[in-house]
Amino acid sequence: MDQNMFAPAPAFDQDVFRQVVGHFASGVAVITTAHEGRLYGTTASAVSSLSMEPPMMLMCLNQSSSTHDAVAQAGLYAINILAEDQRDLAMKFGRKGGDKFDGVSFRLSEHGGVPILDGVIAAITCIVDETPRGGTHSVFFGRVVDAESSHGEPLAYYRGAFGRLERVKELDTYMNVRQWVLARRTPLGENLHISMMVEALRAEPDDVFNAFVKLTAEGLVDRTNAGAFIAAPITVDFSNSLYDGRATIEVGVIASRIMEFEQALLDRLRGMTEVMGQLRASENGSLREFLELHSNFHQTLVGASGSVQLLDSYRRLSIAGVWGEAWDKADWRTLLDHTHLTQLANSLIARDVNAAIEAVQNYTAQAKEFARIAIESRGGQV
Ligand SMILES: Cc1cc2nc3c(=O)[nH]c(=O)nc-3n(C[C@H](O)[C@H](O)[C@H](O)COP(=O)(O)O)c2cc1C
Repeated sequence: MDQNMFAPAPAFDQDVFRQVVGHFASGVAVITTAHEGRLYGTTASAVSSLSMEPPMMLMCLNQSSSTHDAVAQAGLYAINILAEDQRDLAMKFGRKGGDKFDGVSFRLSEHGGVPILDGVIAAITCIVDETPRGGTHSVFFGRVVDAESSHGEPLAYYRGAFGRLERVKELDTYMNVRQWVLARRTPLGENLHISMMVEALRAEPDDVFNAFVKLTAEGLVDRTNAGAFIAAPITVDFSNSLYDGRATIEVGVIASRIMEFEQALLDRLRGMTEVMGQLRASENGSLREFLELHSNFHQTLVGASGSVQLLDSYRRLSIAGVWGEAWDKADWRTLLDHTHLTQLANSLIARDVNAAIEAVQNYTAQAKEFARIAIESRGGQV
């Protein structure tokens, strides 16, 4: 037997894992229960059928979730499978605190009195069987005691965004076309051909066309008088407006959430800045890794708002893919800095909102300056 099979594997990078595992499209459920006169509910996508004989389901809840403890103590829960028009419920139950059931219509199940939400496409009530633990989560094996379904399409969840199932592919194509345009795989000034992308990206022609239209609205693609699509040049003004938009989102998240950030999140942010420092200090540190960490840092922070729409908007204001080789290998260590992000992580840890906002402003001013140098060194547009 291969000895290496049992060699301890190094811990896999969490951010890469999150990005990769998001490619698994799932439905969205709200897990509900009732315990000692109180109702609990949380949004969950880690739900699956487990066995037919006997009928069993499994779902995974973070041990830090209050619904986790309530389900464990009540020994009973319902899996409410959301319809495509119920993303507001997914958002509402995806946050902590408050009375999540306020304004939500539901009834209590015959078996055990757990909430069954109105308008869901299916509801499955389970009695807790085993609850093995894995990392931060518990897996709840549940024996099915009741199950019902009605008409309607499911709400889908894919790469951090909600949508209809057919939208999942469209979103994937949009992301790939955006990356293509920003990486200037078709040089500036040349027509972007739908047929070329259909083949290279294995995408539907309609989805590529829709991506062009969306990118036109975002200012990343222009339409010529002849009706062709071309990549829009990025100027200093345009780049500045994108960085300002990103800063506005970050400042909003910090101002409204700083007191609620969990310690594990703050530790991760701090850890990322330490690795950035190590990459800059080391001769072998890679620019690609540094940029990925930078981008992960910001997305982790915005993602902590709990709003996938906000995170989506934040991502759409990124033009990171356009810089390519703008910073050559020799000078990226001096040009790119991580000290403002360290300042930001430390301010968040200290729950100092003013210092954190100042760090975002400092970081943004510096990022704009780097972008200006890159754009001007290429004749005023990239
Ligand atoms: C689309 C989506 C899917 C989620 N999936 C899960 C999941 O499978 N397991 C989990 O523990 N949390 C999941 N969450 C996060 C919880 O809903 C979130 O942490 C919630 O605030 C927990 O609330 P509670 O502490 O009141 O139970 C998901 C959130 C969203 C928006």
